[in-house]
Amino acid sequence: MRKCIVAWSRPENLTNPDKRRGKPTAENLTIVDHPLLKRDLSILRNRETPHGTFRKVLGDVSAILAYEAMRDLNLASYDLETPLETTVGHRLADEIIVVPILRAGLGMVDGFVRFAPEARVGHLGMYRDESTLQPVDYYKNVPSGLRNAWIFVADPMLATGGSATGALTTLKALGGRRFRFVCIVAAPEGVGHLCRHHPDVSIFAATLDRGLNDNGYICPGLGDAGDRIFGTEL
Ligand code: PRP
Ligand code: URA
Repeated sequence: MRKCIVAWSRPENLTNPDKRRGKPTAENLTIVDHPLLKRDLSILRNRETPHGTFRKVLGDVSAILAYEAMRDLNLASYDLETPLETTVGHRLADEIIVVPILRAGLGMVDGFVRFAPEARVGHLGMYRDESTLQPVDYYKNVPSGLRNAWIFVADPMLATGGSATGALTTLKALGGRRFRFVCIVAAPEGVGHLCRHHPDVSIFAATLDRGLNDNGYICPGLGDAGDRIFGTEL
């Protein structure tokens, strides 16, 4: 798995003060670079992809991102018996908690629990008000023990960054300390917003797209992730 840390500086963002506000601090963002991801991202971007295929491929992409986001988890060793002798075994040292942001984040959970079946799963319900683009909370149910866990917050889209920032603020208020934010498509505006409010949180994404349109959608993007996962688009 090849990993690239994006050094972010686009000339047009440096000349436009509005866009400059969205300029991410590069060191927090990892774009996972893999041919399978690029192929799958194209399937997700394609407007003709039916929702069943979209949901399946989004799960596969999430698994690759989860694998990469979990790369530096700590291990604890223990003695185990093979059929032949005693050797050193390894287990994850820290508990893993996955927190999808509803609805679209639900589509990513299977990808995480494929590699960490022991993970506990919390849920944060938020939707983006269409006119203000501000996140609105409507549900919260997270496990206890946030303080000592590695917490993976999952949402396919990081657009303005309002939802991700709100979710992390909520989880920190509940005691969480160690986070990764994992998304599929990130916009520079969202990365910048999240980095400013939560500079301690690393972001993993499959792509950093060009930016937001006037309605707050990521371009080129993949459309409304929740609608495409659940087949609720018009
Ligand atoms: C989408 C997406 C994120 C949010 C991103 O959710 O899944 O949660 O928008 O936008 P932001 O970075 O500007 O906050 P949406 O509000 O469409 O709800 P849904 O998942 O129920 O479709
Ligand atoms: N939410 C989505 O689902 N898609 C976008 O492009 C932006 C926010």
